[in-house]
Formats: sequence, C-alpha cells, structure tokens
Amino acid sequence: MTVGIGADYRDGQRNLKTASEAKSDMGISGLRVLGIETSCDETAAAIVVRDEDGAGHVVSNVVLSQLDEHAPYGGVVPEIAARAHVETLDGLIAQALEEAGCGFDDLDGIAATAGPGLIGGLLVGLMTGKAIAAATSKPFVAVNHLEGHALTARLTDGVGFPYLLLLVTGGHTQIVKVEDVGRYRRWGTTLDDAVGEAFDKVAKMLGLGWPGGPAVERLAEKGDPARFAFPRPMTGRAGCDFSFSGLKTAVRLEAQRIAPLSDTDVADLCASFQAAIVDCLAERTERALVRFEEESGGAAPVLVVAGGVAANRAVRARLDGLAALHGARLVAPPLKLCGDNAAMIAWAGCERLARGLTDTLDAPARARWGLEEIHAA
Ligand code: KG4
Ligand code: ZN
Repeated sequence: MTVGIGADYRDGQRNLKTASEAKSDMGISGLRVLGIETSCDETAAAIVVRDEDGAGHVVSNVVLSQLDEHAPYGGVVPEIAARAHVETLDGLIAQALEEAGCGFDDLDGIAATAGPGLIGGLLVGLMTGKAIAAATSKPFVAVNHLEGHALTARLTDGVGFPYLLLLVTGGHTQIVKVEDVGRYRRWGTTLDDAVGEAFDKVAKMLGLGWPGGPAVERLAEKGDPARFAFPRPMTGRAGCDFSFSGLKTAVRLEAQRIAPLSDTDVADLCASFQAAIVDCLAERTERALVRFEEESGGAAPVLVVAGGVAANRAVRARLDGLAALHGARLVAPPLKLCGDNAAMIAWAGCERLARGLTDTLDAPARARWGLEEIHAA
C-alpha cells in the first residue's frame, strides 16, 4: 500500500492552506466539509474549506491506494477492495482530521461518494459518512463521483459556469457541458471501452502490469508514434462520441503479428497506441469546442480535463494546443487531484451545502449513476 499525505501532497498545490490559515480566512458562512471516497480501489478522506466568496482550499487530503492488493489479479477485485476500505477508512478519516487540526465538531457537513462505483466499497464509505452525520447531527451530502471530478476545476482554479469538461477515467469517457452544480449536459460518451480501460487492456496484453496508463505513457516516450498506423475510431463522424475497442484490438493483432516482441517493439506499440488515443480525444473535443462556441455566441469556453487519464502528459499537451487554437483556456487539475481522491468529494459537498442541497440518511448507494441523472434539487 502507498500513502500520499500532507507535505508530499501539497507540492504544486497552489491553493492549499494550513488549517489555521484556512480557519482564520473563513467567514461566518464559510464551510468546512469532510469528504469520503471509496468507490473503487482508493480509500480516501479529506477536509476542504469553502470560503464565503466561493473559493476552495484543500486543508488535508489522505489517499490510500490498494494497488498492491489488486496488482496480482491484473485489475480491481471488488471483494478485496471493499474489505480494504473497511479496514482502513476510519484510520484515514482520523488522519485527515488530525492533519486539518480539527475534530468532528468543527465540521459543517459530511460528504461521501454514493456512486457510481463498486457497490461494496460504496456502502462502506456511505455508511461511515452517514454514521458520522447521525452521531454529530451534521448535514450529510451523498456525492456523485463523476460530479466530484467535474467540479474539481472550481476548487483548484475557481472556474465559473458554464465550461466544457472532458472526463477521462478508467470507467468513463465523456464530454460534458457543465452548466451549474447538478446541471450537466452530456454531449459525448464512449460506445464501448473507457479510455483508461483501453490503456489498461493494452498494458495487460503487452505484459506491463496494472494499472496500465502510467506504464504505457512511460514506454511511449521512448517509442516511435509513427511506426504503426492504428485506427482513430469515430474521428470524422458527427457528434462527440468515442469508441476504443477497435483500437485496442488493432494493437493486439499487430503485437501478435510481430511477436516475439523486443523492447523497441513494445515501446513503438505504446507510442503508436497513445498517439491514436490523443488524436481521438483531440478530434472529438474540438467538435465540442466548436459547438460550445456556436451555442454561446462565439465566446471561447474554458476546457477542463479531469479523471485519471488527465495525468497523461501527451493528452495534456495536445489539449493545451487545441485550447490555444480556439482561444480557449485549458484547466487541468494538479496530477494528484486527477486520480480518485476525497478532496473532490468534500468540494462537491461544499458546493452542494452552500446551495442548501443536502441528502437524507436513506440516500442509496448506486453502482450506476450518470451525471445527467443528478438533479440540483
Ligand atoms: O479517475 P481514475 O483514477 O479512476 C476512475 O474513476 O476510473 O482513473 C484511473 C484510470 C486507469 O485506467 C489508469 O490506467 C488511467 O486512469 N491513468 C492513465 C495515466 N494515469 C492513470 N492513463 C494514461 N496515462 C496516465 N499517465
Ligand atoms: Zn474517478
């Protein structure tokens, strides 16, 4: 297991304040929320403060990755994940509170991920959050994990509504117009694999271990992106939908054709695959940028990229260039807020709490829960 906390976490986190700074900044209507995240293979707890003026500050953020437990199986095993959440969550919450220099009494609300995700893990976080809310008589917020990713740019960069979101995770690939808290218009989604899933599957077939994204990116840097002409599915078509399953199959067939693979072959396969992914993401996103401009009378949008794949430097660089081309601004959260974390859940909790949007203690855990199914009130 690896733990990322405190000072290490604060590197590059420009709006991170100490607990006392955040406390003294807080006006009467400032909010301090505990966030809990257990939807997949990261157990996480965080304290986030929202100032009166709407600015957000991560006061503490503890993430315990279960990578080592799942790696031998080449993917997340739901039962192992749920058990690991049970064993570690209370300690992580205590750690997040201690780092923030506060106790349950100092909180204005408790936010926990209610979905989408693996149901066993969701239940662990949700029940824990509800129990704390019930014991302390504090408001409770059942947060949609995707809304957490979607609103992170407001925590890190204070981005105003509306903006365009490219959400790229292990389970989702979506282009969304974010109109307000709870108001999301999905313009595109994947018809088959998510982009992170494609990275993971290609890594697996090339024997690079799990999770695959970072390994593929590392090798791609040494490889030739032009050696294999892999397909760019969906490009040239109207709309903003994605498809990655055919690309993944093309990589597998090519790898089988040239086997046995040398180190150079593997690096070239990774580089050519990543180049195809980057082209697909850019082409689809460009269509969305154009649509956004048309709908808003020519105003250039802020383009936000979020989710684990947003950590990929080639993806970021291309999106940066694309945004510049359209006079738009690219906002990409710091790497440690791209992957799953509880600061984004605490922040979504702050945003909802500030609007008076709380949930009752019978809020269900939901394995499937699309962004468009969220209602603001
Ligand atoms: O958002 P996230 O942490 O969890 C989900 O909600 O799915 O995303 C995890 C996904 C994994 O598929 C992982 O391989 C991918 O993000 N990923 C990357 C990189 N880092 C993580 N993909 C490409 N390049 C990376 N550097
Ligand atoms: Zn996620």
